[in-house]
Amino acid sequence: MLHLQTVADLRAACDRARAGGHSVGLVPTMGFLHAGHRSLMRAARAGCDFVVVTIFVNPLQFGPGEDLDRYPRDLAGDLAQCEEEQVDCVFAPAAREMYPSAPLTTVHVARLTEGMCGAARPTHFDGVTTVVAKLFAIVGPCTAYFGRKDAQQLAVVRRMAEDLNLPVTVVGCPLVREADGLALSSRNAYLDPEERAAAPVLFAALRAAGDAVVAGERDAQRLRAIVRETVAKEPSVALEYVDVRDAQGLEPVATIDGDGELLVALAARIGATRLIDNIGISIRGGDVALDLGRTV
Ligand code: PAJ
Repeated sequence: MLHLQTVADLRAACDRARAGGHSVGLVPTMGFLHAGHRSLMRAARAGCDFVVVTIFVNPLQFGPGEDLDRYPRDLAGDLAQCEEEQVDCVFAPAAREMYPSAPLTTVHVARLTEGMCGAARPTHFDGVTTVVAKLFAIVGPCTAYFGRKDAQQLAVVRRMAEDLNLPVTVVGCPLVREADGLALSSRNAYLDPEERAAAPVLFAALRAAGDAVVAGERDAQRLRAIVRETVAKEPSVALEYVDVRDAQGLEPVATIDGDGELLVALAARIGATRLIDNIGISIRGGDVALDLGRTV
């Protein structure tokens, strides 16, 4: 496995792979890897010849007062997990390699970034799209794998790649959960035992909303109320938002009517930790299928 730190070395390695007739798969991460990240690596390993994992805690996507300085890191552990997943190349640059000076050019995706997580984190998605556009430019033509855990991020990155004709196929992969339903996240490491015990209420609330849709509920206000009422049973959990949205365009949905792919998405704070979660709802000819993700 190659372990690279410079933009020039990563670009050369990807060019070499393509020159040899190999397809390139890219898995961008911020490290402190877990089974959610590993599911993306497996999808890339199954779909591509030369698999690149990037590990970079991107300062540009953290707002003032957010957790940039204490974001969990474990490069040695991450490299071992990448080896186990038969990754070909890990790119773990220093911040000054990615940003030799503060960038004057950033990528902004309008509208899709406005609500949901964009409301509480107004500069976050510009940081994400800027670093992902840089990674796409360095790696070159490839298939890039993103988790549906970050459903808004996936929609935003897809739209950026489309709008800018980037030579990248964006693939969305299933959300991976702990056995008790908590969505895997590097930030789960912040939770103390009591907070960790309360955290599965987020998935329980989303599942209750999903079950209501299966039972015939079509009113988004009502679904949001079900989530709010369920989360309220854990006083230590503060819901930041819950929204029912179209999965691609992220338009708010008032009433579920006709066929389509929807998301019920939320963010919540447990103590100082901000967590996000979502479920997918697919409606085809009146039949409802829930996408609850999968268990590790
Ligand atoms: P990070 O939070 O490390 O996540 C990296 C990738 O792993 C993202 O595509 C995310 O959706 C996916 N992922 C995380 N937890 C998951 C889970 N439980 N199930 C499935 N997939 C999961 O997202 C970022 O980093 C950054 O914003 C990044 C895209 C790397 C840009 O800096």
